[in-house]
Amino acid sequence: MAKILAIETSCDETAAAVVDHRQVLSSVVASQIDLHRRYGGVVPELASREHLLTIGDTVHEALLASHLSWGDIDGVATTCAPGLVGALLVGMSVGKTLSMVHNKPFLGVHHLEGHIYAAYLEQFELQPPFLCLLVSGGHTSLIRVDGCGQYKLLGKTRDDAAGEAFDKVARLLELGYPGGPIIDRLAQQGNPNAFKLPEGNISLPGGGYHPYDASFSGLKTAVFRLIERLKSDNVTPLPVEDIAASFQYTVVRALIRRAMRCAQDEGLSNIVLGGGVAANSGLRQTLTQKATEQDMDVHLPSLKFCTDNAAMIACAASDHFAKGHRSSLNLGVYSRLSLEQVSEIYRF
Ligand code: KG4
Ligand code: ZN
Repeated sequence: MAKILAIETSCDETAAAVVDHRQVLSSVVASQIDLHRRYGGVVPELASREHLLTIGDTVHEALLASHLSWGDIDGVATTCAPGLVGALLVGMSVGKTLSMVHNKPFLGVHHLEGHIYAAYLEQFELQPPFLCLLVSGGHTSLIRVDGCGQYKLLGKTRDDAAGEAFDKVARLLELGYPGGPIIDRLAQQGNPNAFKLPEGNISLPGGGYHPYDASFSGLKTAVFRLIERLKSDNVTPLPVEDIAASFQYTVVRALIRRAMRCAQDEGLSNIVLGGGVAANSGLRQTLTQKATEQDMDVHLPSLKFCTDNAAMIACAASDHFAKGHRSSLNLGVYSRLSLEQVSEIYRF
């Protein structure tokens, strides 16, 4: 099972791609950012309607750009969980219909499994086991990956995801949406040690801190208080670059400290980054530097495969298809589904 056409519509990107195992033949992403920007975040109903309008052209363009025709495609895959239910439904309906019309096997794919697989794209040498630091708008997880479908969640955020914290801090600074790329850019011009912010340690009942779990909601509140203090002290203009740099430095340090400790405890020498926040320049640089110091290998997806795309979904599907996994056309969509329950997708 080699050439897979995949669809991804779990949030605010309408995406389709054709992948031949780990080689990307085409990847088309129609972003809805401009539509949601004026509301400061994703509006689910608007997202579903926009997916409906763009999905047809997006799939058509992906197939055209791959220089293949339906006769060459071996299977169709679509993100089925987790995500916005209305948005997922659009992609799933189209994926199932295409699989029926063209008589191709169908597979549902877990969105986070796609983010893990983004590092495999165009990196033919990467093999499990490895530790994946998955940092997106909705998730912040440390996952031990032992093979296709074999995932163990070792650490997580107890509240806000890292990407969510970037977006919320950008909103506090009135920078726009999505906040991650804007903060990343500003942070490069600021002093990361200008303000000391809390790293979000989780206290354990017997004393000490949880080694892998984190909390980012306190950090967001600390940035809020800092901005209020600077405003009441009449500091104008606000030192936005320094705030962005200090915030990003704190998030990056919290993530890397936990990932390195977890990899060492698990005896893993490969660390893989995934999710939208994996595009962050500070995280990429610092993780690479720390890992090199400790004789570990870091695998970073290309920037275009960090944020939501369908190539990563096709890549994950390709491995599942090769294992003989198929989904029934009765498969539903799920707003929440843990990665450890991923095998449920192939039982329907
Ligand atoms: O993986 P993704 O595209 O969607 C989800 O599955 O959530 O991640 C989107 C998140 C947003 O919160 C966005 O602000 C963040 O990734 N992001 C970044 C960067 N680029 C995107 N965060 C930090 N630095 C970036 N360069
Ligand atoms: Zn995502």
